[in-house]
Amino acid sequence: MAVKKNETGTAQIEINGTKYDLPIYKPSIGPEVVDISKLYAQANVFTYDPGFTSTANCSSTITYVDGENGILLYRGYKIDELVENTDFLEVSYLLLNGELPNKKEKEEFDNAVTYHSMLHEQMTRFYQGFRRDAHPMAITCGVIGALSAFYHDSTDISDAHQRMVATRRLIAKMPTIAAMAYKYTLGQPFVYPRNDLDYASNFMHMCFSVPPEEYKVNEILSSALDKVFILHADHEQNASTSTVRLAGSSGANPFACIAAGVASLWGPAHGGANEAALNMLDEIQTPDNITKFIKKAKDSSDPFRLMGFGHRVYKSYDPRAKIMQKTCHEVLDALGLKDDPLLKVAMELEKIALEDPYFVEKKLYPNVDFYSGIILRALGFPKDMFTVLFALARTVGWISQWNEMIEDSEQRIGRPRQLYMGNASKEFIKIEDR
Ligand code: SDX
Repeated sequence: MAVKKNETGTAQIEINGTKYDLPIYKPSIGPEVVDISKLYAQANVFTYDPGFTSTANCSSTITYVDGENGILLYRGYKIDELVENTDFLEVSYLLLNGELPNKKEKEEFDNAVTYHSMLHEQMTRFYQGFRRDAHPMAITCGVIGALSAFYHDSTDISDAHQRMVATRRLIAKMPTIAAMAYKYTLGQPFVYPRNDLDYASNFMHMCFSVPPEEYKVNEILSSALDKVFILHADHEQNASTSTVRLAGSSGANPFACIAAGVASLWGPAHGGANEAALNMLDEIQTPDNITKFIKKAKDSSDPFRLMGFGHRVYKSYDPRAKIMQKTCHEVLDALGLKDDPLLKVAMELEKIALEDPYFVEKKLYPNVDFYSGIILRALGFPKDMFTVLFALARTVGWISQWNEMIEDSEQRIGRPRQLYMGNASKEFIKIEDR
């Protein structure tokens, strides 16, 4: 159903001497929007906005990001309150359904996810097709897409029940798929999910347990991982979510759409930044080298960017980075690693960058990816698994946004236009005459 819009007036635009009135809609919070959807039909002009810096591509009730004030809300709840008082599956229920579950609803949802966590046994053969040194994101992207080859009974997007089954299967199977990708690169046997473990503990068990010995989950570490999942669960219309929406607008099945989201997230400017940020900290190595890297980051002729800094929307501190920093200290203290040299470099880098006029003027603050890599490394994950964990957590955000789009009567196939600057006409010359 289309969200009822609250028209509060019109914006007038004059084009070639003709005036056009465009409706303005008022949101529940945040910037108003000017509806330009009829402009091309009325004035035969397109609007131009590479990277969609000023464009709302949908109306949504799921997540709100206040970039100026560093606020993140999931269905109206502040991210820090959710991290402190819920777990990832409770947040998943909230993102999917719009309300926090009561005890009975939570138990039913937890069971549904727990009892969908196994993968069709034949899917394990896909992994054998990859080289052992394949990047786990390449494996994850391939296997997620392949789900549509196995779960035909939940690919009809017009059937609400099938959408619900596909939704639960994706949330339930993502940890199993991700853990198998990790085990495969190690050359270790796959570990099946266990129904007696919570979501984050089950994932750690599937990643770190080995047949010769009993794996004991460290509650402090699995609780920290659960918080990391909550912080990554959704973030309104970012690049990968917009990719999922655009793929879904053509009617593609949910597994194909989520595979498209995984592919988009992989880029170092987006979800790949956590792996890139840790690589950068590894390269800096000691606080003495920080100045050299800050200089490179400020040099416009140098493509180097300070990974884990800056954000398209947050022009103040990313609220997730603040919570991530706190969780980072908890994890390192629990592991007796509070003198971790990389943490020292990260904190010194943050201090210097936040005082440097270049970063202050451009409002470049640490983002969600700056501290997450240090936590994930301390939890035992290799760098090339960091973006896989981001994708694991973001799956619930993607599928929530996908469901919202499918149910929105206003949505149709996405089809942006362009400012064409190519040749207006060329005379064809046969190859023998060229
Ligand atoms: C995520 O959108 C989301 O919500 C994403 C995400 C989510 O949850 O889905 O929050 C997750 O992707 C977080 C961002 C992770 N990426 C990184 O940490 C990579 C490093 N950051 C940059 O690549 C950059 O900040 C972006 C891509 C995040 C944002 O880019 P924008 O909004 O297009 O900004 P820009 O590239 O136009 O930069 C504005 C200026 C430029 O200088 P000028 O051309 O104006 O002189 O700031 C500079 C940039 O050179 N700049 C940086 C910088 N980021 C921007 N300079 C040095 N280091 C950086 N990190």
